[in-house]
Amino acid sequence: MASRLGYDCIGILDGWKGLIENKTMPLSISQVENLISQGGTIVGTSRTNPYKKEGGVPACLENFKKLDLEALVAMGGEDTLGVANKLFKESHLAVIGVPKTMDNDLSATDYTFGFDTSVTIAMQAAQNLKDTGKSHHRIMILEVMGRHAGWVALFTGIASGADYICLPERRVNVAQMTERLQSAHQRKGYALVVASEAIDLPDADAEKAGTKDEFGHIILKERGVAERLSELIENKTNIETRSAVIGHIQRGGPPTLFDRILSTRAGAKAAEMAGEKRYGMMVALRGTDVVPVPLEEATAKLKTVPESWLKLVDILCQC
Ligand code: F6P
Repeated sequence: MASRLGYDCIGILDGWKGLIENKTMPLSISQVENLISQGGTIVGTSRTNPYKKEGGVPACLENFKKLDLEALVAMGGEDTLGVANKLFKESHLAVIGVPKTMDNDLSATDYTFGFDTSVTIAMQAAQNLKDTGKSHHRIMILEVMGRHAGWVALFTGIASGADYICLPERRVNVAQMTERLQSAHQRKGYALVVASEAIDLPDADAEKAGTKDEFGHIILKERGVAERLSELIENKTNIETRSAVIGHIQRGGPPTLFDRILSTRAGAKAAEMAGEKRYGMMVALRGTDVVPVPLEEATAKLKTVPESWLKLVDILCQC
């Protein structure tokens, strides 16, 4: 079962969980040739961290040998690729990374695939909220995913002409936000706020601990940011306010043109890198080129929204 690139391929089911449990599926051309237009993943995924499972790492290494693999292509975000990097550094696993996350928070690459699609969906949701907000003369809040980096909120907010954008990269300035929303509401009869699920709010629930996953991340949807923000805004402005959480709706559906092209190029580059035995590297988009970068560089630090983008937000949301 050779692929078009001349390799025999198998899929490991559910990420690192599948390698620990030796669960695989064949990846023939007939199984993959129509994937370009599909959301989700046919091999499945999980939030399994082999370093947090008893015997997880030895099982990964053993099964890699048992399956007679030459190289493993790990696709994911900071968690999946952080494990890939550790396995490469500590156990010399022949691994290559492919940056796939809607959060767009991996360093060393300009974009990760999944991001454009999820922002496109959020942008449509924001437009719908604007329509109903306008009809009812309300302030509308859209909470979007994106974990501890505000890229999804930033791009959704800019692309939908939000009146205020709340990002985890800086504390919400309640007085400024209230003033701007009141002014937007006075001018247009409605206002839109796009907020990241990870923002901190100055209220009693701010330090809510929340349940953590195997990678130590708080399950952010449990923090109820949109509802708390809505209460805060309504109390401060006396304007009727409603909120919506887009949640996992952002993580499905047909990929956008940008994501289809990026994922195709990333996949082909990863296969080329496997042929050249460039292990411990990740495919990255740099400008218009797909190039190899060290996994270490991609995973050492989360890529958060820098000051230059925050300045743009200030310009756009100041009237
Ligand atoms: O990392 C991707 C992501 O969608 C984050 O934006 C979000 O916080 C998290 O996953 C949600 O995780 P789960 O699907 O496990 O609830």
